[in-house]
Amino acid sequence: MVKLAPSILSCNFANLQADLDQTRGTGLEIIHIDVMDGIFVPNISFGFKVISDIRDKNDYFFDTHLMIEDPIRYIDDFKKAGCDRLTVHYEACKDLKKTLLAIKEAGMEVGLTSKPATDPKKLLEYFDYIDLVLVMSVNPGFGGQKFMEQSIDTVKLFRNYIDENKKDIKIQIDGGIKTDNVENVLALGLDEIVVGSDIFAKDIKKQIEKYHEIFNKY
Ligand code: DX5
Ligand code: ZN
Repeated sequence: MVKLAPSILSCNFANLQADLDQTRGTGLEIIHIDVMDGIFVPNISFGFKVISDIRDKNDYFFDTHLMIEDPIRYIDDFKKAGCDRLTVHYEACKDLKKTLLAIKEAGMEVGLTSKPATDPKKLLEYFDYIDLVLVMSVNPGFGGQKFMEQSIDTVKLFRNYIDENKKDIKIQIDGGIKTDNVENVLALGLDEIVVGSDIFAKDIKKQIEKYHEIFNKY
């Protein structure tokens, strides 16, 4: 079944663990951790210390979305901080293949993504080195933006490619997902759905339960 990956970017950072505590008992398995450097995207979020502090208190799979330039420099630091998967941007890596192999070598799952303006076909040649492909349905940098419809074609492209070539690669979507549009993307055959503001800016537990109810129908 498709899995929910709430993005902590929309948490109240003055009460980060209190927000995460509200996710307990919901059957949640993954949290999505958005790291931004203010260079690759025009926003700065948080770094290793925040991740390792919440690592100590939460058992979830730490799915880490790196919106940073040249992420190969920090792979070991993210591993030490407790990340389980690193997803890097096609546009941010000087040597993409080397970066993907280094993440695997460090003992983490490997994710690859791109900005909506990048031709998604450019990612296909790296599919031998990844565990997950992330389709960005907003321009990376901020929570709370509007879902970009073009991402639906990108999911379809990847779904067909993965099925035809019998690849063991998960597909994740990230950005602008709400309870009232999530069913449009569920029908596409996704593995993971990232939701930020529609969970952490609302009644957290209730929203997670609502999503799980919807997912159960698929
Ligand atoms: C955007 C981030 C997303 C964001 C999603 O750069 O990658 O993970 O937090 O937030 P919503 O669900 O509010 O669009
Ligand atoms: Zn993200």
